[in-house]
Amino acid sequence: MALCATCCVDVLEGEEKLNEMTDDEYAMLDTLPDLLPNSRLACQLQLNNNMDGLKVKLHGVS
Ligand code: FES
Repeated sequence: MALCATCCVDVLEGEEKLNEMTDDEYAMLDTLPDLLPNSRLACQLQLNNNMDGLKVKLHGVS
């Protein structure tokens, strides 16, 4: 529900295949001090077969 940002991921490949970011997702991401341009909330991504090859990593994890 875009309420906590604990699911934040950084998209490494396939960002162009993702659904548009909603205002709620953007507002929650904007609270993170270390937000990256490719950060998204995983709970807000609407997965489908066209996203084959999507690569993400947990935000803040090396
Ligand atoms: S924002 Fe809380 S699980 Fe995604």
